Amino acid sequence: MNKDYNRLDNTKTYLVTGAAGFIGFYLSRKLLEQGCKVIGIDNLNEYYDVKLKHARLEQLKPFEKFTFMEGDISDKAAIDTLFKEYKPNIVVNLAAQAGVRYSIENPDAYIQSNVIGFYNILEACRNNPVEHLVYASSSSVYGANKKVPFEETDLVDTPVSLYAATKKSNELMAHTYSHLYKIPASGLRFFTVYGPMGRPDMAYFGFTDKYFAGAPIKIFNNGDFANDLYRDFTFIDDIVEGIERLLSNPPAGGRDAAHKVYNIGNSNPEKLMTFITTLEKCLSKSLDREVVFEKVFEPIKPGDVPATYASTERLEEAVGFKPKTAIEDGLQQFTDWYCKYYKKQ
Ligand SMILES: NC(=O)c1ccc[n+]([C@@H]2O[C@H](COP(=O)([O-])OP(=O)(O)OC[C@H]3O[C@@H](n4cnc5c(N)ncnc54)[C@H](O)[C@@H]3O)[C@@H](O)[C@H]2O)c1
Repeated sequence: MNKDYNRLDNTKTYLVTGAAGFIGFYLSRKLLEQGCKVIGIDNLNEYYDVKLKHARLEQLKPFEKFTFMEGDISDKAAIDTLFKEYKPNIVVNLAAQAGVRYSIENPDAYIQSNVIGFYNILEACRNNPVEHLVYASSSSVYGANKKVPFEETDLVDTPVSLYAATKKSNELMAHTYSHLYKIPASGLRFFTVYGPMGRPDMAYFGFTDKYFAGAPIKIFNNGDFANDLYRDFTFIDDIVEGIERLLSNPPAGGRDAAHKVYNIGNSNPEKLMTFITTLEKCLSKSLDREVVFEKVFEPIKPGDVPATYASTERLEEAVGFKPKTAIEDGLQQFTDWYCKYYKKQ
């Protein structure tokens, strides 16, 4: 493992887009705790409960070096002004319309935020040079690829959702800008991120909501446990540590574009059913009584992929780190937070 990577530089100004979002919040907090200056932008949209976004922001506001702007990355003039005013050294673009299934019914939001919004960030980085642009891609770019683990060198030209197509487009656009305008850029393919204060649209959160609502949970795996879906579930702290380590380590340029993509995933895929039974156990422990979800099995949904499994060799080589949190630990932190936050007994 490479231990010679550059450590976080707390004299820099970091722009975090999507700062009120799940990953953006935790990253901003970690940077602020280490004395960095953080400029956060978020449009606080209502894709999921806005109260949760405000609750995250409340935790960031006490930091003196935190500045928040409510705004949309698809607003080119606003992004230009923000770059001119704050002159960020390092930009982390996490603002996006997330969610695979939602993209089937609501394509507009994906083009607006993920394509136009990201283009505005690239243009701003071109006109106001930055030391490193780090941006969120997704494991969904691997589509229905069969070869596992997924490696960054695998072909990813066959996305199965518009969400995945926008993320793959981001990688192509970043590569071009890096090549033409010498913008050092790193694209991060996150693998199913979970944790306290996570996204209510994600399965583990929704299952917990359903349990307390007295409703059955729907599991989209055909009820076929022998061929169950596999997911590389990655705990939020591991994602944040991976991003943090990469921030001061932009890819080298030379003759090639200074652009690289990295998987950040647990590299230890779990069967969906194992994840669900672990969630039941963790919730039982949080509540000190036995929890068993009522389950309904349904066919796999369009856009969903059968397996995700990250190779983390490239990340390890670059910054000497790979995600390590076991689902037993990560889900326990989630259920403990959930019961406290929503006052469940
Ligand atoms: N959580 C995961 O499992 C996962 C997996 C792969 C990739 N990602 C990617 O990581 C990034 C962060 O994901 P997250 O889980 O924190 O999602 P999130 O939805 O919690 O955070 C995104 C934030 O961006 C904001 N936003 C959306 N569109 C915007 C716009 N046009 N302008 C300004 N703000 C906007 C939203 O209000 C939200 O607060 C996203 O790009 C997502 O696609 C997440």
